Amino acid sequence: MNEQRETHQLVLLPGDGIGPEVIKAAETVLATAREYLRHEGIELSWQAKPIGGAAIDQVGKPLPDDTLAAAQGAKAVLLGAVGGPEWDGLAPGDRPEAGLLGLRRALSVYANLRPATMLPGLGGQSPLKSRALQGLDVLLVRELTGGVYFGEPRGRAGDAPSRQALDTMAYQEGEIRRVAHVAFRAARRRQRRVTSVDKRNVLETSRLWREVVEDVATDYPDVRLEHQLVDSMAMLLVLKPHAFDVVLTENMFGDILSDELGGVVGSLGVMASASLGDGGPGLYEPVHGSAPDIAGKDMANPLGAILSLAMLAEHSLELPLLARAIEGAVKEVLRQGLRTRDIADGSQGERVVGTREMAERVADALAQDLHTRQALNAAYF
Ligand code: IPM
Ligand code: MN
Repeated sequence: MNEQRETHQLVLLPGDGIGPEVIKAAETVLATAREYLRHEGIELSWQAKPIGGAAIDQVGKPLPDDTLAAAQGAKAVLLGAVGGPEWDGLAPGDRPEAGLLGLRRALSVYANLRPATMLPGLGGQSPLKSRALQGLDVLLVRELTGGVYFGEPRGRAGDAPSRQALDTMAYQEGEIRRVAHVAFRAARRRQRRVTSVDKRNVLETSRLWREVVEDVATDYPDVRLEHQLVDSMAMLLVLKPHAFDVVLTENMFGDILSDELGGVVGSLGVMASASLGDGGPGLYEPVHGSAPDIAGKDMANPLGAILSLAMLAEHSLELPLLARAIEGAVKEVLRQGLRTRDIADGSQGERVVGTREMAERVADALAQDLHTRQALNAAYF
């Protein structure tokens, strides 16, 4: 078994605000996984690089060449968060966020998967009635490298009181087609339903979006396709989130709807994501931002980062059983009543812990699970 050793190189990009804390937390879990993978002939190694505001401070730009080169050479990249008030005065192209957008674009990770499910004991966190949450299992597929985030021309002109600003929402057919295929393929592994979200009653890009998605759908006759306008979809996700399976949408609509899903499940802190292209490294990030108000206080919820690590195990390392084991460990500590502050509601049996302790308990639960299974079946992975 040890002859065919495989080494997976990962790059960690802690970034700003709570980013470094949640990445450190994920690293605790990663270290546990490494111990067990080693016995299976799989080596994991990783290095950290600066991005965002941290990179601006260290190197003068939000996506240093060295960071990009390391990311491009990695099997997968795990990122914390970027941005913060220190860099708010900078122009869009120089801001921490530009580092993340540049990285997504450079890695061509056009399909951003953002799953939303109810985790054990978190029902009370959601403002919604439990019947709306029953069976909630949505996979949001957000187009990530096109649309108004990247469209040209963009810019500003004029002086007050006649200032103007311009952004461009543009899509090419191929950009829509490839992300639509990702959504339909995902639906085949789930409930075989895709809801495509657009604003066809107003936007040209949305008319093209709908035409292309309908065309792609003909390759998947076993998957049911429906369309929703984005304003109506924003309402439906609150009224009946359980009614959706795969939700496919463009970049900015997906940004907005994914935060809404975070609210629906009770905390953005537990939301994970995977950004994938055609081959090449995947980029994994918790959906929450840099939360500067709680940075450095050991208060951040590391579960979004840890669950992003599970997605990394599944999609980039192709170790679905490790992914399930990490998810299982997260569910286990939640069942035990452990809560970070964002998901604590004062209910009986809960114990409020910090970022570090939460991560250590998840790592313990993972170690215990892997240990038992390995004893049962050495070919577990
Ligand atoms: C997200 C974030 C980013 C985005 C920001 C930080 C650029 O909000 O990943 O959802 O808008 O995509
Ligand atoms: Mn966002």
